[in-house]
Amino acid sequence: MAEALEMLKTFPGGRYADGTVGGGGHAEGILRMSAPDGWLFACDRDGDAIEESRKRLGAYEGRFELRRCNFSELGAWVPRGGLDGVLLDLGVSSPQLDWAHRGFSVNKEGPLDMRQDDRQVLKAVDILEHWDERELSKLFFELGGERHARRYAKAISQRRGTLKTTMQLSQLIERSSPGGWSPIHPATKVFQALRMAVNDELGSLERGLTAAWDCLRPGGRLVVITFHSGEDRLVKLFGRRLEKDYEIPAGITQDVPELRRPRSPESRWVSRKAIQPSAEEVEENLRSRSAQMRVMEKMPHKN
Ligand SMILES: C[S@@+](CC[C@H](N)C(=O)[O-])C[C@H]1O[C@@H](n2cnc3c(N)ncnc32)[C@H](O)[C@@H]1O
Repeated sequence: MAEALEMLKTFPGGRYADGTVGGGGHAEGILRMSAPDGWLFACDRDGDAIEESRKRLGAYEGRFELRRCNFSELGAWVPRGGLDGVLLDLGVSSPQLDWAHRGFSVNKEGPLDMRQDDRQVLKAVDILEHWDERELSKLFFELGGERHARRYAKAISQRRGTLKTTMQLSQLIERSSPGGWSPIHPATKVFQALRMAVNDELGSLERGLTAAWDCLRPGGRLVVITFHSGEDRLVKLFGRRLEKDYEIPAGITQDVPELRRPRSPESRWVSRKAIQPSAEEVEENLRSRSAQMRVMEKMPHKN
């Protein structure tokens, strides 16, 4: 999203972090707009993405630090309270989908891998092998929003031990599908749910939002682009908690108005509603059609 750079309010000399550097598109924009002396901390957990972005950002050498890590670990290497903006552009990158050997694509033959960080042990095939039918069904329903979750979980359980490749899985789902027209492949939602579980995407986001927020200076902005309703919900709840002018005392589990303790809000929404991509953007990049961008600004008095 081109608007993401605008929302970050990128300015000359500013200091930023890109927690999902991918191929380096946004990162390059940040470095260009913060020239001549702006600084960028950039990371990705995918080693291929780090290589790609290092090549792309070569012209800006000396103005950025690039690390291979989860953005939930930003606090370990980025100065606390020192940044003007942090960008998280979540989900899967186009190269991850294009490279068959990564196992993310429903229609390219590859191993059932789906790890964004290949140093991690858990792969998609392990989930398919070891989770029972009920757990698989819950996963496909909750993270994939798949209506036929039970049907597909049953079909997979019956083929346990024989599913090794992406095409074997997507063809099994295709055969088990009740049919009917759909703009997407019948296995798309199952693949999405598996990918999100393999990479603990919601857990990383939950930890990452706090880590990113702590890196911002007063007045700094957090820009988050999500592609999944569960992710967007986490971002919305995070922002709502920070914009409140009261807190619930420790040990109290319910929000009882009489027990609320007043405090100054930590954040404000730059746009109260999630920002959708423009029609031109969707035309240029079809994947952006399900994107939602939320932008929060740290209140000036907070650190
Ligand atoms: C949509 S792409 C980002 C594209 C990037 N903004 C660009 O302009 O090229 C998402 C990237 O985020 C990375 N990613 C997703 N979750 C991550 C996490 N928790 N920590 C670090 N990187 C993550 C993925 O590996 C992928 O490369």
